[in-house]
Amino acid sequence: MAAIRDAVEIGYRVFDTAEMYGEGGAEEVLGRALADEMRSQGVRREQLLVVSKAYPYHADVAGLRRACDASRRRLQLDTIDLYLLHWRGETPLAETIEGFQRLQHAGAIRHWGVSNFDIDDMRDLAGLKSGDACAANQVYYSLSERGVEFDLLPWLRQHGIALMAYCPIDGGRITSNPALKKLAASHGVSAAQLALAWLLRQPQVMAIPKAGRKAHLLDNWNSQRLQLPNAVWQELEALFPAPTRKRSLAMR
Ligand SMILES: NC(=O)c1ccc[n+]([C@@H]2O[C@H](COP(=O)([O-])OP(=O)(O)OC[C@H]3O[C@@H](n4cnc5c(N)ncnc54)[C@H](OP(=O)(O)O)[C@@H]3O)[C@@H](O)[C@H]2O)c1
Repeated sequence: MAAIRDAVEIGYRVFDTAEMYGEGGAEEVLGRALADEMRSQGVRREQLLVVSKAYPYHADVAGLRRACDASRRRLQLDTIDLYLLHWRGETPLAETIEGFQRLQHAGAIRHWGVSNFDIDDMRDLAGLKSGDACAANQVYYSLSERGVEFDLLPWLRQHGIALMAYCPIDGGRITSNPALKKLAASHGVSAAQLALAWLLRQPQVMAIPKAGRKAHLLDNWNSQRLQLPNAVWQELEALFPAPTRKRSLAMR
C-alpha cells in the first residue's frame, strides 16, 4: 500500500498486476491503494493506466469474462485499461481474441494484449481475424536480456505494437554488475537508472520496473530525465552487445 501511495505521489501512472500475483492479493492491494488515492484527489482515474493479466487457462470466452470480472472487483475498477493474456496456453488464440473483444464491447477493458509471446506466437496472432488489434506484448527485456532485439522487437515496431519491458533491471541483479556500476558512477547516476534510461531510448518500448522502496521509486523515476553523452550509450553497447542470432524468449 505505502509503495503504491509513494509511486502515485512521485508521478507514476502505469500499474501492472495480474490475477496470478498473490492469487488476486496483488490486485486487491493495488485496488485499495488506488481507490484511496482517487478519493483523496491524489490522482484521477483518467490519468491511470492499469494493466492486469489473465491465466492462460482462463483464456476462453467464458473464462476471460469470469477472470476479468473478478480482477475488476479486486481492483475496484469498472474498466481495466490493458488486459493481457499472461502467456500462451492451450486455448486457441481466435477464442481468446473473441473473449477480449466481448470484454471491450462491454466496457470491461479498454485494450487487450499478450505477454511472453515470441515472434512465432505474434505471427500466429496477427494471422487471425482482429489479431492486429493487439496493443502490447509484455516480455522480459533489459540490458542483459536483449534477445528480443533480434526479431521480435523489429516485428512489433513494424506492426505498431508496444513492447512492455518487464524485469527491466533484471530483478535488481543488474545493479550489482561491476562495469555498469562503474560507468554509472562516473556520470553521477545509479546502475538502475542507466539500465532504465537505456531501455527508454528504445523506440516503442516502455519499462515497468518494480520497486517497494521509495528511494528506488525516486531513482527509477528520475531515469527519465538523464541527459548523457553518446559515449555512454556506445559503452553500454560494448558491455551488453545486441544479439547476433535468434535466442528463445527469456521468461520469469
Ligand atoms: N508478464 C510477465 O510474465 C512478468 C514476469 C515478471 C514480472 N512482470 C512484471 O514486471 C514487473 C517488474 O519485474 P521484476 O519485479 O521481476 O523485476 P525488476 O523490476 O527488474 O526488479 C525489481 C527488483 O529491483 C529492485 N530495484 C528497483 N529499483 C531499484 C533501484 N533503483 N536500485 C536498486 N534496486 C532496485 C527492487 O527492489 P525493492 O522492491 O526493494 O525496491 C526489486 O527487488 C513486476 O512487478 C511485474 O509487474 C511481468
